[in-house]
Amino acid sequence: MSISRKRKGQALALGILGFGAGLIAAGTSAASDGHGQVGPLIIGGTEVPRGKYPFMASVQIDGKHRCGGSLLSSTLVITAAHCVEGVNDKNAHRLSVTVGQTLLSDGIGSQRRGIRAIDASTLDDSDLALVTLDAPVEGIVPVTLPTAGADALYRPGQMATVIGWGNTDSQSFPYYPDRLREVDVPIVSMDECAISYSDHDMSTYFCAGVRGKDSCQGDSGGPIIRAIGARVYQIGVVSFGDGCADQGAPGAYVNLSLPSLLDSLDRVWEKPADQQTGAVARR
Ligand code: ARG
Repeated sequence: MSISRKRKGQALALGILGFGAGLIAAGTSAASDGHGQVGPLIIGGTEVPRGKYPFMASVQIDGKHRCGGSLLSSTLVITAAHCVEGVNDKNAHRLSVTVGQTLLSDGIGSQRRGIRAIDASTLDDSDLALVTLDAPVEGIVPVTLPTAGADALYRPGQMATVIGWGNTDSQSFPYYPDRLREVDVPIVSMDECAISYSDHDMSTYFCAGVRGKDSCQGDSGGPIIRAIGARVYQIGVVSFGDGCADQGAPGAYVNLSLPSLLDSLDRVWEKPADQQTGAVARR
């Protein structure tokens, strides 16, 4: 099976980035997802009620959902680097970000913004990007990042929640839901993660998931979170996986507790000065 994340050097090619639904041989339990499709329900999850995760973002190309994201501050959205690879002065206008919506088909709760700049992690094989919006979003409480070395949040066996509009059916035909979904997944030990992805440098990732419960294509860039008290900690970013929800192939998530990763962020694109509206100061 092929690793579905775009690798370094492969340009994003805006507009034709395929979701490359890999066919999966291993069986997972079948269930109706309420759309006349049979398959594991994100995979193995449930629908999210409106307003539950206001910080959730949809990174869109030509107004169509492409990747997940999350609000870090009023002008910053976290996503995966592979979601915004290949953005340049010519195509950047096709990219937009919505924050606050639950159904992709209606604008309820949604604030749409253009993009002003992109910073991407520069560590080898890392997949983190920060998108600067062209104007602040209003009235939405952003996520909190874990403090450096917050190991307790990453303890194997503990549950985290991954959220997204990604494929819900890894078994037969890909199905991209209109309503945001969530699934609780167990955090996997770094040893097990390294064995599952022995051909990857996993030093900026952790793994989570179990057979039947996983993120999938279209969830990339979105948050995996843990709620501690009233606070939502975003511990990772959906990045890649070998198929979806297969046994022995958990999802791989960008580890947001690594100072070295956050420190490596570097500007890869910025809106030319003559196109800027002047609404937001740089960063
Ligand atoms: N690379 C995918 C995307 O661009 C995300 C894949 C996640 N896969 C997984 N098995 N968790 O949407």
